[in-house]
This record gives sequence, structure tokens and C-alpha cells, in this order.
Amino acid sequence: MDIVLGLQWGDEGKGKFIDLISENYDITARFNGGSNAGHSIERNVKRITLKMIPSGIFMKNVLNVIGTGTVLDPVSFKKEIVNLKKFDETLQPEKNIIISRKAHFVLPTHRLLDIFMEESPEYTTIGTTKNGIAQAYSNKILRQNLRVGDMFSSDFKSRVEQILEREYKFLEKANMELPSLESISNEFFEAVESLKQFDCTETEIVMNKALSDGKKILGEGSQAAMLDIDHGTYPYVTSSSTIAAGACSGLGISPKKIGEIYGIAKAYCTRVGNGVFPTELFDELGDEIRSKGNEFGSNTGRPRRIGWLDLPALKYAVMINGVTQLVLTKADVLSGLKSVAVCTHYELEDGTVESISGILPETAKPILKWMNGWNADFSNMKNVDELPKELTDFLSFLEAELEIPVGYLSIGPGREQIFKMK
Ligand code: GDP
Ligand code: IMO
Ligand code: MG
Repeated sequence: MDIVLGLQWGDEGKGKFIDLISENYDITARFNGGSNAGHSIERNVKRITLKMIPSGIFMKNVLNVIGTGTVLDPVSFKKEIVNLKKFDETLQPEKNIIISRKAHFVLPTHRLLDIFMEESPEYTTIGTTKNGIAQAYSNKILRQNLRVGDMFSSDFKSRVEQILEREYKFLEKANMELPSLESISNEFFEAVESLKQFDCTETEIVMNKALSDGKKILGEGSQAAMLDIDHGTYPYVTSSSTIAAGACSGLGISPKKIGEIYGIAKAYCTRVGNGVFPTELFDELGDEIRSKGNEFGSNTGRPRRIGWLDLPALKYAVMINGVTQLVLTKADVLSGLKSVAVCTHYELEDGTVESISGILPETAKPILKWMNGWNADFSNMKNVDELPKELTDFLSFLEAELEIPVGYLSIGPGREQIFKMK
């Protein structure tokens, strides 16, 4: 199994890359997260953002797995399937998506609780996507949640209703403005009925058998290393394991089976939501990069925060994931800048200097290295030889610092706008 992972704070371009390379695989499999993800794919000048559906969906011969480590909101998933079929009428997702019976449900009250916690002064505001992700995962850990396979049990409805009523009562008491319990409950059960069109099965067995038969699997990460529940910038993180090890636990595949680990990073950094961001730009240049790179959340539409590439954090992400190849995206967005900066170290309050960090202390001062910028028309570039020297120097610098090769360089949102470098 190979894996694709985000190395920064998400939105590095995982969807585009997976859509491209999934033709080399038999299976693509989402192992973490839920509809908080937004993986944008451009096909035939049209664009779609996938939330729960794996990014191999456009390859007719690829089986797409929604794995055990994910949390699935049937209401959101139903809408996504309708949208997908509108986008490409030839697709038959019921035939090539399978869902783990052990994946957990996101219930309608989880979404409402997420909104409540984000807006109530009694809780830390994380800046979540308000998809009920933390609430579903926390109920899973409390062992109070329901799994996809439970929808076939005779007491499913009453068990769901018990949770909905309990959580709804809590929200009512907190004076939250709420849709009626009946409406959210009906919508949920209707969506669960549509879910039954998909094969809900023991995906671990399907995938391990596929590997034994010599088939190839691509694990699709959502979110990214710096949003990982354990290794990210807690508490401003998501609630799942976003790293390579998470692919093994989330899919039920042994670490012995891992081959290539593609780590995706932008040539700069972005972040949506709250939390530390040492290289953040607050000036006009940040605005310029946001607008040129169309840095607005694929999922929520929120403007993304912008900053220079952060090597101490990136080195940490490469280390904990065991990345074998870097996929660098959005180099085109920095085109035209006279010089570009990379943060090589953090200077801490006591004067010490760090070159690798997973903590990213609030008070850390980024030490920037300025490099010559590049200027080129990337829109019709077809050949690696056309890359400006300043950009290839930038790539060589990253390879030396991170001690891994840049395997791919993406130079635009389009499917073809990518070079295989190694
Ligand atoms: P994901 O969550 O990692 O799949 O990334 P998103 O889809 O949320 O955000 C990445 C955005 O950048 C999408 O709008 C992509 O279409 C776009 N994109 C991907 N690679 C490139 C690139 O190399 N250059 C430019 N300009 N845009 C890119
Ligand atoms: P993809 O897969 C960027 C961020 C949210 C928030 C934090 C917690 O498209 O890269 P959550 O809703 O998960 O409880 O929010 O995590 N976040 C993402 N940021 N890309 C994502 O996914 C994200 N998924 C969650 O903005 O800061
Ligand atoms: Mg995204």
C-alpha cells in the first residue's frame, strides 16, 4: 500500500494528486476524517470538491473504500453522491464505493453540538468546519456511538433516537436555536436508507485479500500532519490520526505492507481555523498570495491564512510520517515575486534556535532565508526543462534540507499541470 498525506495544515492539493495517480492503483481508500475534508479535483474544465468520497472515484476500474477510521455523515454523503452524479453522469458510485461496517456515524446532533461548542464562550473555539467530527469521534471513544454496520440491527432506530434525544435535550437547555428533532431525525433515517445501496462490508478483509492477490492500494489522507490529534498543534487540530500510522490503523493494514509515502506540501503555507502559525503573513503580500492561489476553504469558503514555507514544521511532518517523496504544489502561485522566503529555524524566547519542531511555540520567531523568486508562465508549460532556474534551485534546497526527493512538482490546478521529477 502506498499513502498520500498532507504535511502542513491541509489543502495541500491531495485530491488533485490522488485523482492523477489513482489510475495506477486498484483501490483508493480514505482512512481518517469525514466530510470536514474538501478535496478539489478539476476534470475537463469542471471542478468538484469531494468530502467523503475517495478521490479515485473518476477511475472506472478503481474500487473506492471508505475505511474504518473515518466518520460518515449519511446526510452529507447522500448530497455528495447526488452532486457527483450531476458532475459526471457516467459514474455509478454505488458500484465502486464500499464502506466499512466499522466506520462510525456522524449523527445530526453531532453537527449541532459542533456549532454550539464553536459559538459558546464556555468552550475553546477551534475554528472547526462544523461537521460534527470531534463529537462523532469523542462518542466513539466513549463507546456510546453507532457504526455503519449497526444500521442492519433491529434496534438501530431506537439506539439512534436515544442519543438524538439526549443530545437534543442538552442543546435545548443551552438555549440553542434548533431545527425540530423530528426533521433532523427523519432526514437522518432517510439518508441511512440510501446508504444501504452501497456495499457495507468488512473492508479490512477485502483490502488485505486484494494485497495478497498482488493488487495495489493507495491510502488517501485527509487533513494533514499539523492537524493530527496527537502530533499536530493541539488543541487546534482535527480529531483523527492523519499520519502514515493512521492509515494502517484506519484501514486495518499492517505497517509491513507500506511502500511509498507521498507527502504533499505547498511552496508556502496556509491554515484555516485557529491556532499557532509562526510564518503567517499579515500584510498585502499575504492577500496577494491568497487571491492568486485562490486560498479560500474548499469546504467552508473561509479565507485561508497565508504564510511562508515552514521548514522546522515540515521536517517534523516528514519525520513522523517517514515520507519517501515530496509532492510540491502551487509553485506557480509564487511566480512573479522578486524573492521568496523559507523559514529555516525558530528562535525561541530564551535565545535557543530550533531547526525541527512539532510544538511551534506561540512566541517562536521564524528565521527566514530569502531566495531569488521565479517568474514564468506556468499555464502552458509542458516540459520540465522550461522550469525557471530559481525554482529548480528552490527544489534542490528543499531536497537538501528535508533529505527526500521532490518526486512531483504541481504547477497549476489542472489535472495535467504536474511534472514527475524523479
Ligand atoms: P486538498 O484538501 O489537499 O485536496 O486540497 P484542496 O483541494 O482543498 O485545495 C487545494 C487547491 O489548490 C484546490 O483548489 C486545487 O484545485 C488547487 N491546486 C492544487 N494544486 C495546485 C497547483 O499546483 N497550483 C495551483 N495554482 N493550484 C493548485
Ligand atoms: P483537507 O482534507 C484544512 C481544520 C479546521 C479546524 C480544525 C478542526 O481538505 O485538507 P474539524 O472540522 O476537523 O473538527 O476542524 O481542522 N480542518 C481542515 N483544514 N483542510 C482540511 O481537510 C481540514 N479539515 C479540518 O479548519 O482548524
Ligand atoms: Mg481541502
